Amino acid sequence: MAALTEQAISQRSFEAVVSYFEAQSGIRLGPDKQALVQGRVQKMAHERGERDLDRFINQVLGGDDESALTQLVDRLTTNETYFFREPEHFQFLGQLLAQQKPAGMFRVWSAASSSGEEAYSIAMVLADRLGLTRPWEVIGTDLSTEVVRKANQARYPITHADDIPDYYKQRYCLKGHGAQSAHMMMAKPLRERTRFITANLLEPLPDIGSFDVIFLRNMLIYFDMATKADIVRRVLTRLKPHGHLLPGHSESLANLELPIKPVRTAVYQHA
Ligand SMILES: C[S@@+](CC[C@H](N)C(=O)[O-])C[C@H]1O[C@@H](n2cnc3c(N)ncnc32)[C@H](O)[C@@H]1O
Repeated sequence: MAALTEQAISQRSFEAVVSYFEAQSGIRLGPDKQALVQGRVQKMAHERGERDLDRFINQVLGGDDESALTQLVDRLTTNETYFFREPEHFQFLGQLLAQQKPAGMFRVWSAASSSGEEAYSIAMVLADRLGLTRPWEVIGTDLSTEVVRKANQARYPITHADDIPDYYKQRYCLKGHGAQSAHMMMAKPLRERTRFITANLLEPLPDIGSFDVIFLRNMLIYFDMATKADIVRRVLTRLKPHGHLLPGHSESLANLELPIKPVRTAVYQHA
């Protein structure tokens, strides 16, 4: 295999990639992200057998290869996530269900779900609190087709299980055997009630119904105030009356003039 090209990205190509990515995701990558963009595009160029970085960018942005354009957006998104991230939210969800058992179908949306760890953490709490006879479901959505594909596989490196409390791990995670021993799989009842589709939160939302709880975490940080308010307003159209919205703990929704009231840290209720 040829060595990874060390060629630097030209300013012109960098700006072209930044503009395309902004048009697709709404996220503006600043000049401080030049090394990151170069590294990720370089890897993609290398995988596709192209050594000249500027020529590769020209070809992808100037051509009509949809799969290359989608892959470019996938590679530039930051998908970091892990099971039971910000555990207070999962405790809150458990308490909410302990206080009052829902009358009908209980639905949770993991908006900007990345590779699914957040949605399956939610599913483990719902399975535990509501069991598998009451109706509930979890929908995950993300801009990146690559992470949505991974989430739908429900298969993770076994090391990711370190973030899952033993109680849940023993009940809802299946350890692989033989050639699969480095991986684990989410249990079938969870997979049957959890599904993922691509959706751009800056565009009209797909027809996914309305939700009792919406997790919208660690995605708003990339946007300015106006865009953030726009995204949250759109997402709120899918929150049931008195439903709860959970942004990341470092994402303030103050001063956005939204129809929500704070309930506790990083938990809001539809007003
Ligand atoms: C850092 S991950 C957060 C994942 C998870 N919510 C968590 O807190 O662990 C941010 C995710 O937002 C997604 N994202 C970025 N822009 C988006 C957009 N415009 N619409 C939908 N998802 C977007 C990215 O693809 C990425 O998977």
